[in-house]
Order: sequence, then C-alpha cells, then structure tokens
Amino acid sequence: MIYFDRDASCFALDSSSLEEYRLETNSPHPLDAQTRLLPGGRTKVVTDGDSYYVLSPQFLTPKPFVKPTDLDLERLQSHFFSAQAVEAALGVPAEAMESKDRGSLVYGTTGAASIYEALSRIAAGPKDRFLDIGCGCGLPVLVASHLVGRATGLDIVPSMIDFAKRSAADFGRSNAHFLAANIRDVDVRDVDIVYVAATTLSQELRGVIATKLEQLRPGAVVISLTYSFPSEHLVLVDSFKSPFAWWSTSAPTEHSFLIHVRRPL
Ligand SMILES: C[S@@+](CC[C@H](N)C(=O)[O-])C[C@H]1O[C@@H](n2cnc3c(N)ncnc32)[C@H](O)[C@@H]1O
Repeated sequence: MIYFDRDASCFALDSSSLEEYRLETNSPHPLDAQTRLLPGGRTKVVTDGDSYYVLSPQFLTPKPFVKPTDLDLERLQSHFFSAQAVEAALGVPAEAMESKDRGSLVYGTTGAASIYEALSRIAAGPKDRFLDIGCGCGLPVLVASHLVGRATGLDIVPSMIDFAKRSAADFGRSNAHFLAANIRDVDVRDVDIVYVAATTLSQELRGVIATKLEQLRPGAVVISLTYSFPSEHLVLVDSFKSPFAWWSTSAPTEHSFLIHVRRPL
C-alpha cells in the first residue's frame, strides 16, 4: 500500500510488515512531533492517512519490479481471450443497451502483466481489499487475488459475471468474488484498492464514480486506466505506460495507468 511522509513523498510499502512499526499517538500532528523526537536521518515517520509508522529509512528503498515466477500470467490472459470469454462479453442485456450506461458498455481486457505491475507498484498485499469497477470477465480480479486478501469485481453485464465466477472456480481462487451490479448502486467505502479501466466509460459515469471514490478511507489507492480522477479528495502520485491489446486480434498499444491516493482532508 502507499504511505507518505511529512514532505508528501510517497512510498509503496508492504502493509503487513509495517504493522510492528505503528505509532500509538494522540498527538494532533504526529508527523511533526515524532520527527522532532527521533534522531535525524536514522528514522522516518510515514502515514497511510490513518495511522503513523516509525521505521528505518532503508524500508523506503524502492524494490525493482519483478515479474512473478509462481503465477502464469500468459495462461491466465489466454483464458480471457478465449471464444467463451468473447461470448460472455457479447451477452449485454437489452435493458442495459437502453439505459444511460449504454455508451460505457464497450468491452476489453486489461493486460495481465500490466495490472500485475500496477499492483506491484503500490505493494498490494494480503491485508488489502481490491475492487474492480466494471470488471468485465474478471481478469484483473483474478490477477489481484494472487496478491491481496480479498479481490472483488462488479459489472453491469450478468453473463460476464457468470464467466468470471466460473473462471475463479477453474483457477481455484477462493478469495475472488463477483457481483452483477450497476456501480451507481454500490457502496465502495470498505475497499483499500480500486481499479477502474476508465478508457471506455462515459464522462458522466466517470463523474458518478469520482463521487463514489470520495467515500474511500484516507490512504486508499485508486488505479485508473487512461483517465485520471483528480479532485480535492484524490491526489495523483504515480503513473506508468504499459502496452497491451484489448482483444487477442488487435495490436498492442500503450495505455496509461494512473495511481491516486485518497487524501486525508
Ligand atoms: C473496458 S471493460 C473493462 C473490464 C475489466 N475492468 C478489465 O480491465 O479487464 C469496461 C466494463 O465496464 C462495464 N460497465 C460499464 N458501465 C457500467 C456500470 N454502470 N456499472 C458496472 N459496470 C459497468 C462494462 O460492462 C465493461 O465490462
């Protein structure tokens, strides 16, 4: 998860190993107070917007991105490019086609390696709850389920959710969950990491999602594709480009991943 210091520098740190460094403090400004108390240079105080942690500066050294050896991303990806996935993606119900979300129902799948890189960049770990808003057939959720404690996807198209549930069972991912729902009706406040592949979502729907994201706890992370969600509630802290093809038949192009943190207000 992402932590930041008093200069607002951001660090992606493993939340589980940080637990033992948590500060018990009632100070209204713990970052200032603790930085004064501790000898300079040897310790650092960081926060996730909720709690404070004092640790050695060596914790803050960024770890190089390494592709996983225990997770076959290519096998996972080819499953989501199968004819069955395409069929599930085409099962958009007539009422959704007539709703105001019809312009946002364009389907495509985020690259498995790309979502893995995004989650690695924020040090997603077993303490985190992940949500993919508009999860489609579920590839990002299945990838996330290897890193986080609980991974959930929701989508307005029930046939995609059925495919996603079958895929979770086929791959033995008991911590991956799926929900057929319209994001307009869902509360996101119990989530630590949100993913929104916003590329194909209408401007109006992105506005609705932006308002929902205000419910997140301070320190929660929002990863979005193509479009950022800038507001007084969210600060953009990192971005990177990753090439992938939405469909197996299309040529890979570069996509922008944007990483935001819910600001403590
Ligand atoms: C481009 S796909 C992204 C799929 C997946 N997140 C990924 O990155 O692989 C966008 C998805 O958003 C879904 N969607 C559009 N409007 C929605 C809404 N109002 N509520 C829930 N899902 C929605 C579509 O059905 C579609 O599956």
